Amino acid sequence: MITYQEDNRVFKLDTPNSTYMIGIVDDENFVGHIYYGKRLQEAEASYLLRTQEAPYTPGRNNRERCSFYDCFPFEYPTGGTGDFRESCLSVRTAGGHVGAMLSYVSHEITGGKPALEGLPATFGTLEECETLKIVCEDKYVGMQVELFYTAFRDIDVITRSVRVSNAGQEHFYLTKVYSACIDMDNRDFDMVSLHGSWARERHIQRKTLGYGIQNVSSFRGESSHQDHPFLALVDKNTTQEHGEVYAMNFVYSGNFRAQAEVSQFDYVRMSMGIHPENFCWKLEPGESFQAPEAVMVYTDKGFDAMTSAFHKLYRKHLIRGKYKNKKRPILINNWEATYFNFNTDKLLAIAKEASALGIEMLVMDDGWFGRRENDDCALGDWQVNEEKINGGLKNLVDEVNKLGMKFGIWFEPEMISPDSELYRAHPDWAIAIPGRPGTESRHQYVLDLSRQEVVDCVYNMVASVLKSANIEYVKWDMNRQLTDIGSASLPADRQGELYHRYVLAVYEMQGRLVKDFPDLLLENCSGGGARFDAGMLYYSPQIWCSDDADAIERLEIQEGTAMLYPLSTMGAHVSDCPNHTVGRVTPFETRGIVALAGTFGYELDVTKIPEADREQIPEQVAMYHQYNDLVREGDYYRIASYSKNHKFDCWQVVREDKKESLVTFVQVMNRPNFKSRRILLKGLDENLRYDVHFVGDKDAGVKSYSGDTLMKAGILMPNLWGDFRARLIHLVAAD
Ligand code: GLA
Repeated sequence: MITYQEDNRVFKLDTPNSTYMIGIVDDENFVGHIYYGKRLQEAEASYLLRTQEAPYTPGRNNRERCSFYDCFPFEYPTGGTGDFRESCLSVRTAGGHVGAMLSYVSHEITGGKPALEGLPATFGTLEECETLKIVCEDKYVGMQVELFYTAFRDIDVITRSVRVSNAGQEHFYLTKVYSACIDMDNRDFDMVSLHGSWARERHIQRKTLGYGIQNVSSFRGESSHQDHPFLALVDKNTTQEHGEVYAMNFVYSGNFRAQAEVSQFDYVRMSMGIHPENFCWKLEPGESFQAPEAVMVYTDKGFDAMTSAFHKLYRKHLIRGKYKNKKRPILINNWEATYFNFNTDKLLAIAKEASALGIEMLVMDDGWFGRRENDDCALGDWQVNEEKINGGLKNLVDEVNKLGMKFGIWFEPEMISPDSELYRAHPDWAIAIPGRPGTESRHQYVLDLSRQEVVDCVYNMVASVLKSANIEYVKWDMNRQLTDIGSASLPADRQGELYHRYVLAVYEMQGRLVKDFPDLLLENCSGGGARFDAGMLYYSPQIWCSDDADAIERLEIQEGTAMLYPLSTMGAHVSDCPNHTVGRVTPFETRGIVALAGTFGYELDVTKIPEADREQIPEQVAMYHQYNDLVREGDYYRIASYSKNHKFDCWQVVREDKKESLVTFVQVMNRPNFKSRRILLKGLDENLRYDVHFVGDKDAGVKSYSGDTLMKAGILMPNLWGDFRARLIHLVAAD
């Protein structure tokens, strides 16, 4: 999978359908990027480094060295010495100087994949992947840089990360350290990214790549609702099924930048890493900094193939724990049912009704602790409010368990309300700039998790609640972004470490939680979907996708999310109507069908909804049990996109052996005087015959067609009466 050719000094990394090549140039040992694309048979394309083109040729003259630096395809570019495109690495020495240039020192190729200290990362066995480490140095700075590349044997994925060490005698500061870079020729690319806001996360955006720098980023302290740590450069003609895609996704949950820069020579530099804004990390002699992992996917088979590579990687090589490949309990969450206005009796009434309908877990959301009657106070006071939870938490959990249901609970461990016992005792525990009034958001501050005593105190409060009763699920929320970056405990020249130390501490806390409570189902959340990223998926197998649970708004949100992340990870619930975010009324059936594409659950007061809706719950529960294995583990295909056609949405999942499939069709607005729609299915076995069943349509009967017909001629989807209507089509291969 990974080879090194000694004679021409070329590394060749192969995945099933892609090749990545790196070359070492000249006696100065520049590390150059040769090629990334369709799989090559030979490692002989090092002419792509263009080292023989005027005006400078390495090793022969020094006159135009600067122009060489400014066009050479660096594998990991540094700044300040002549490459004027944006660098991946910036350092400032103790003397205050910037500028670096890396040269190759040695390399190592090993089976498997080393873990990244303190960080989430994909993993794989000796049989599943191979790792190349290239060691480089800048002897003037006294810096060693290790570039890591892992190629996966069965998936078209290469992962990258970087470790920078101080190998000198004096400290220096890292002011930028990205994780991945590809320098290549621009081919009239489009740039695809995911953009959003609260309640409308991860909408797909595609635009023409122009000269100069274009990027998406977050310096909000989390990956964010607004931009997503993902970027793809694609051919103008790339569609779901065809065309080249170069994609990068970041296994990190904090500040990021994902960028493409088109240079004067029509080269493009695509890069991804921690956002350099307010980042400054001091490295004492002997210390190292480990940058997070970036995942790269190349395919010439369009977005479906890109999605399939990400899904396979994350399902098999990122998500962990008891629920990794398991059906999750169907939950009912009381947030939209009661907001802060609940007590033991109200929760038990909901649980009683829910359990009779087949719902499997009650989740008690925000408002059960301290004096939390509204969102103005009490974050940090993680003790049960026994006026509300009268009889105590254990009693409530036991009563819920007696109904045959599991019990889950909400926390927001990273936060502190100014009006809380915790803040009154430790005002310096909030992130703040000394002397400057902090900017409140939802009346709260963020805890300074760079301090171990803060992490330990909060973790112990959370753990003690979890130990006090049979709690089997935690929703870990994070409801504001970071401002006023300052820590009372870090020295002046380490304040620039706070953003990243904060993220490392979140990882440490969640790592501890899943280790101490191995049976716990953890669901991350951040004001909806502001921290839905590959970093968090290492700790929690599912993440609340968006606070907007309206079935129609969810089409675009779930489409963008599912472009990268398996359906098993998408927190999706049937919620109340009129919808609490947009006021829209959609049929209960449609809400159920859209939520079935995710983890599935309810977010409403089941004792108050109309009888006709309540009656549908047992049927929806049965569908979840019937189809969830397929939805969770199957291959996902996008058939049509409401965000593009403004009429209907359609996606499909296919079991790995291709013997079963489920198609979801959502007709958004009805069209008068319109006939049926022809839908071409995907991913089936052309040689198998399938029984096609339009679920819920008693008149349609079951018809049988070959996979070949279903994929080439398609099926006819009748026009449905009314707006916001949905249908499931179930296909099973006949024996
Ligand atoms: C966030 C979450 C919601 C809910 C509230 C509680 O907004 O996304 O689901 O838990 O917090 O305050």
